[in-house]
Amino acid sequence: MMGLTGWLLAAMLLAPSVELEHISSAEMCGRCHRDILRAWKTSIHATALENPLFQDALERAEEDFGSKVRSTCLGCHAPTVQYSGDTGLIKKVSWEGVTCDFCHSLKSVTLTSGAPRLVVAFDGIKTGPLKDAVSNAHGVAFSEVHISSLVCAGCHEYRNPQGLAVLTTYTEWQNSSYGQKGTHCQDCHMYSTSAKVVDPKVKRVKETTVNLHQMPGSRSVEQLNKAIQSQMSTSRQGGKLKVIVKLTNAGAGHYVPTGSPMRQLILEVRLDPFGEGPAIRAERVYARMITDQKGVALQREHLSISPF
Ligand code: HEC
Ligand code: HEC
Ligand code: HEC
Ligand code: HEC
Ligand code: HEC
Repeated sequence: MMGLTGWLLAAMLLAPSVELEHISSAEMCGRCHRDILRAWKTSIHATALENPLFQDALERAEEDFGSKVRSTCLGCHAPTVQYSGDTGLIKKVSWEGVTCDFCHSLKSVTLTSGAPRLVVAFDGIKTGPLKDAVSNAHGVAFSEVHISSLVCAGCHEYRNPQGLAVLTTYTEWQNSSYGQKGTHCQDCHMYSTSAKVVDPKVKRVKETTVNLHQMPGSRSVEQLNKAIQSQMSTSRQGGKLKVIVKLTNAGAGHYVPTGSPMRQLILEVRLDPFGEGPAIRAERVYARMITDQKGVALQREHLSISPF
């Protein structure tokens, strides 16, 4: 008769492909990295899968392209799934969207003709920006990628199989003065804040700052104010009033708007000549437009990703 260990061994040998990666939940990491967990929880990354707009678009994508499209979308919105095999989204960690263990198991990112290639291994060694980290909770390794914009490129740069560059934030950055100077995504989206890298009960470390894991973007009024500068001048021309509004992208390291082609920046100018509420209104919409082969503008997020 085979003993218990014999059975376990046999099961492991018979089914190596079911032995998928073990991916830890953010809550687990947060037992020691409390401050970082708190910040990440309020990030857009934490809700990248549960976001109702994404859920809705995923459903439409599956209707339009079949269920194969699912893995493409989940590749960025729930990136652990391709390693855990949890395409049915049963595991809690899948619902954590862009979670800690994904970014900190990332070993390298390379870009060949605009298409990022990621190497990720859930081998218990957490990669990060600290050169002198020591932890008995898990292995640690300093990683060049984590202090460079490349760490973001995997999901913020995307070319669909037809060759259309859909998401271009990384290359916009690369070609900007910020890219040339080496001002990385992290400098603007993960700036230092005072907080503890690990709970002092676990380990006392000399650093008193961490990189902000909230990664504020266009949903942050503060970020938007940094990005856009506006200047208005008016002049009278006969019986007419001429209004000139100048908008400058003064603080974003890429186009505004960037990312999803569905993003828009709307300028609204209202003129209230008699002080009785606005009488004249003008609007300009700044956006990238993607059209289909017939020249009709795409109105839905998932259509530009069109993976087949
Ligand atoms: C039991 C406590 C504990 C848990 C749980 C824990 N860590 Fe850590 N972690 C540490 C300690 C201690 C350090 C070292 C800090 C130092 O020396 O500055 C560290 C360092 C790190 C670093 C820095 C590595 C570097 O070289 O830059 C990263 C990244 C990291 N942890 C990620 C994670 C992730 C992701 C998880 C969850 C999968 C996690 N940790 C779970 C205690 C923990
Ligand atoms: C594994 C994929 C992945 C990686 C890696 C990644 N992101 Fe994201 N990011 C996303 C997804 C998906 C969204 C959109 C989520 C949504 O809207 O529900 C997003 C959204 C954002 C936003 C938008 C927030 C807003 O308010 O509009 C910012 C800013 C951002 N990411 C910055 C970064 C930075 C900086 C890095 C690198 C340090 C990075 N991301 C790395 C997948 C990723
Ligand atoms: C989108 C990718 C991404 C996610 C998600 C993410 N991190 Fe990070 N993390 C980074 C990057 C990039 C840095 C380094 C930034 C730099 O130095 O410029 C970093 C730095 C760290 C560090 C080193 C201390 C510091 O702040 O510099 C620790 C520890 C860490 N992260 C833990 C976590 C934990 C725990 C979570 C989840 C609660 C998490 N990270 C989620 C990308 C990520
Ligand atoms: C010089 C500072 C700076 C750098 C560098 C920078 N960003 Fe931004 N980013 C901003 C500001 C300010 C905003 C808010 C205005 C906006 O929405 O464009 C923003 C917005 C965003 C958004 C939200 C876009 C939207 O329209 O919803 C994403 C995603 C983003 N950045 C990702 C990145 C990535 C990825 C990198 C690196 C490749 C990067 N950023 C580099 C300053 C920067
Ligand atoms: C290469 C990575 C990547 C892939 C693949 C991807 N997305 Fe995204 N998605 C992103 C990023 C990054 C953003 C945020 C961009 C920004 O803020 O400008 C985003 C934003 C979105 C948004 C807007 C969410 C909001 O709150 O405004 C929807 C909806 C969405 N994606 C649906 C999908 C669907 C459906 C698929 C599959 C057909 C898909 N995505 C595939 C990276 C990806």
